[in-house]
Amino acid sequence: MNNDIKKSRAWKKLEDHYNKIKNKHLRDLFREDPKRIQKFTLNNGDLYFDFSKHRITEETFDLLIELAIERKLTDRREAMFEGKKINQTENRAVLHTALRTPSGNKIMVDNEEVVEPVHAVLDKMSWFASRVRSGQWKGFTGKKIRNVVNIGIGGSDLGPVMAYEALKFYSQRDLNFRFVSNIDGNDFAEAVRDFEADETLFIVSSKTFTTLETMTNAHTARKWLLDQLKNEKAVADHFVAVSTNEAEVKKFGINPQNMFEFWDWVGGRYSMDSAIGLSTMIAIGPENFNELLKGFHEMDEHFRSAPLKQNIPVIMGLLNVWYGNFFGTQTQAVLPYNRYLHRFPAYLQQLTMESNGKHVQLNGAKVDYQTGAIYWGEAGTNGQHSFYQLIHQGTILIPCDFIGFKKALNPLPLHQDYLMANIFAQGEALAFGKTAAEVAGEGVSDALVPHKTFEGNRPSSTLILDNLTPESLGKLIALYEHSVFVQGVIWGINSFDQMGVELGKVLAKKIIGELQNKSIPLNHDESTNALIEHYRK
Ligand code: F6P
Repeated sequence: MNNDIKKSRAWKKLEDHYNKIKNKHLRDLFREDPKRIQKFTLNNGDLYFDFSKHRITEETFDLLIELAIERKLTDRREAMFEGKKINQTENRAVLHTALRTPSGNKIMVDNEEVVEPVHAVLDKMSWFASRVRSGQWKGFTGKKIRNVVNIGIGGSDLGPVMAYEALKFYSQRDLNFRFVSNIDGNDFAEAVRDFEADETLFIVSSKTFTTLETMTNAHTARKWLLDQLKNEKAVADHFVAVSTNEAEVKKFGINPQNMFEFWDWVGGRYSMDSAIGLSTMIAIGPENFNELLKGFHEMDEHFRSAPLKQNIPVIMGLLNVWYGNFFGTQTQAVLPYNRYLHRFPAYLQQLTMESNGKHVQLNGAKVDYQTGAIYWGEAGTNGQHSFYQLIHQGTILIPCDFIGFKKALNPLPLHQDYLMANIFAQGEALAFGKTAAEVAGEGVSDALVPHKTFEGNRPSSTLILDNLTPESLGKLIALYEHSVFVQGVIWGINSFDQMGVELGKVLAKKIIGELQNKSIPLNHDESTNALIEHYRK
């Protein structure tokens, strides 16, 4: 593969093509092609994907697909599904797709079959989750567990919180769930302030079991529990671990029998459907968790087998490349019109930005093109009353993903139609706007016409599903996972390491020592030295 992506044929053609259509308005694109909807919408099961409101023509679409072919997307995709070590810098396979592969299938990594162990852990999780849900799992004093606290950070937190919030409708309501991630003591203090220790279960979730935040919070939790229950033996009834690191779990004092395993071929930000989803399974039950896995798997199958031109994650990924690399956009808004998905944008931030925030290619050469965009968003309609102004009339182009559901989980009169009307209205307003002539025609004073004019030509995708269920959530998450993969392949980067988080961790460890021992001389830059001195005083 030619590593110099900008010299590739498809890239050059896209550059020329961009110069031809960059000023073309969506109003004209729709007017010129009455078949646009047939060409630029897709159905996958209950998922309806409308990408007609993008600044593309048939030629753009063909060229983007050509780029994907030139970048050998299908080979890379197969390599991932087959368990090849595509995470080259860490010499690891990338097999989150194995986490939702039905039992009976075989995938090998280092001569070991991985699907059966996945199902063995799922069975163990089901057994445990059912006992907690039914009250059979008792705390140290014999009381039922009423509170579940997941301690973890990054992928060991964002997925569990997002899934709990997203699927709260399906959760067992007599159990309380809290999520502690931040090293800021306020997080732990607030999470447990109204809990009794003998009714509380801590799930310490950490792939490495060495992460500063998680281990500090876990030790604080242990002390909080023992201060109340005054017996070391209580730890066994109130702490379980989810990790790949049995030695560290043991060291912490958690019985390995109460450990739920996963593997180094599951990246943290791709782990919410592994044992990291234990809190999710306790909340929604094993059957619903299976539905979640089913949704993931359906999207995996679609991604693996659908032709590129009908492949939703492929198209989503290529559209990101089109805007980022040709229009120079730097952000992507994700706007779920469902209150339960209010943590979805935060979850996607780690998935997308930790994956594709890279500045070197797989071969170590520096890229001379933009890579991962900033993902951000908010549940609709709240965003409309804050930042949408900038999307509609600001000077920055921001592609948007609108996500909506046909059915309401809580069908109150009027709400659902009002909610959906807003999605459709926003996409329409962004794309087509309102011309100065239209504004003037409404009798607006000349002075106000420019202020009230909407240029339009702001692109968006609209994703509509039947209902927010565990299955549809799984599908949606896998869709974004694979779209991230597609972008990484086009850019020739490793989407599966995260070396950019290391330097800050190392420096923080050093500075912790300096804060705790004020006699250690400081040898940072002058600004950092002064800040530390200021705090020390
Ligand atoms: O610092 C980043 C990171 O390594 C993420 O990739 C990961 O999800 C998070 O920290 C937590 O890591 P762990 O699960 O090992 O505690």
